[in-house]
Amino acid sequence: MTSTLDVDALVRKSHEAKQFAYCPYSNFRVGAALLAKDGTIYTGCNVENASYPLCVCAERTAIQKAVSEGRKEFIAIAVASDVTDDFIAPCGACRQVLYEFGGTYDVYLTKPDFTYIKKTTTELLPLPFGPEAPSKV
Ligand code: THU
Repeated sequence: MTSTLDVDALVRKSHEAKQFAYCPYSNFRVGAALLAKDGTIYTGCNVENASYPLCVCAERTAIQKAVSEGRKEFIAIAVASDVTDDFIAPCGACRQVLYEFGGTYDVYLTKPDFTYIKKTTTELLPLPFGPEAPSKV
């Protein structure tokens, strides 16, 4: 089954997901809501660690949850933070991880007032090193 996309609902879910952010070091809450092709929505938040490099972003939390439950095809992901004057932009590592599962699905970068801009995974990661690259040698 391929699900239809309710963008406003996905954006709201990404903001709801911020409530679980574990970010005692940065105090920067991030939430994500990832819509899989079967209609399931996987939420994620950032999960920080006293050993700073081990911090995991909200987007990657959502991807890990989805893939570990058998979903590898996605329609869209919404990303949320508490920043009011900019649309939250995924970090470079998250752009790479999002691209791994498709170059054409939508990434909604949002603000707390639920406004958003839409990008594709390829727009966020031009000239990608994608899943096909390692087999090209
Ligand atoms: N963070 C995310 O969760 N997603 C991003 O794309 C950008 C950064 C988190 C990581 C860290 O917990 C906090 O925001 C500050 O960098």
